[in-house]
Amino acid sequence: MNKNIVLIGFMGSGKSSVARELARRLKRELVTTDGLIEVREGKKINDIFKTRGESYFRKVERGIIKEVSGRKGVIIDCGGGVVLDPANLSDLKINGIVFYLQARPDVIYERVKHESHRPLLQSPDPLGCINELYQQRLPLYNQADYIIDANGASIEGSVVEILKKIQ
Ligand code: S3P
Repeated sequence: MNKNIVLIGFMGSGKSSVARELARRLKRELVTTDGLIEVREGKKINDIFKTRGESYFRKVERGIIKEVSGRKGVIIDCGGGVVLDPANLSDLKINGIVFYLQARPDVIYERVKHESHRPLLQSPDPLGCINELYQQRLPLYNQADYIIDANGASIEGSVVEILKKIQ
């Protein structure tokens, strides 16, 4: 199986932990789009949003997605907003199987409420933001090849489900 395994989903859905575990089990390279953006820009995601704004971030993200979509046999952990540009998802599908880690807004809120590194949730009403972004993005996330229920699921549970699908 030389296809990439691509994880998409909302912030806090567990993509990074699941991706790390998949990479470890399958002995494959882990590629993190946010990590590549930070290296390329020499700044944390939060600082990129603050100093250059979201549209600049999306442009850099688009370039990174084009690049990583050309890879083969790697695990790709995508930032939660990659689906906003439809070209990203179609590129990622060329060499990859795309998994959406689905978690409800209330579950996401519980997981991220004490974190401060997520620029889009720095609002007086983070749950309201999550609900709004979730509604906008749901139809986009649903274009994944597979949907994995990540609500109550442990990291292990999601990993096992993904491994079953690719076997
Ligand atoms: C974003 C999600 C973040 C990061 C940036 C924007 C989003 O990644 O790319 O803060 O638009 O949902 P994670 O999903 O890994 O937190």
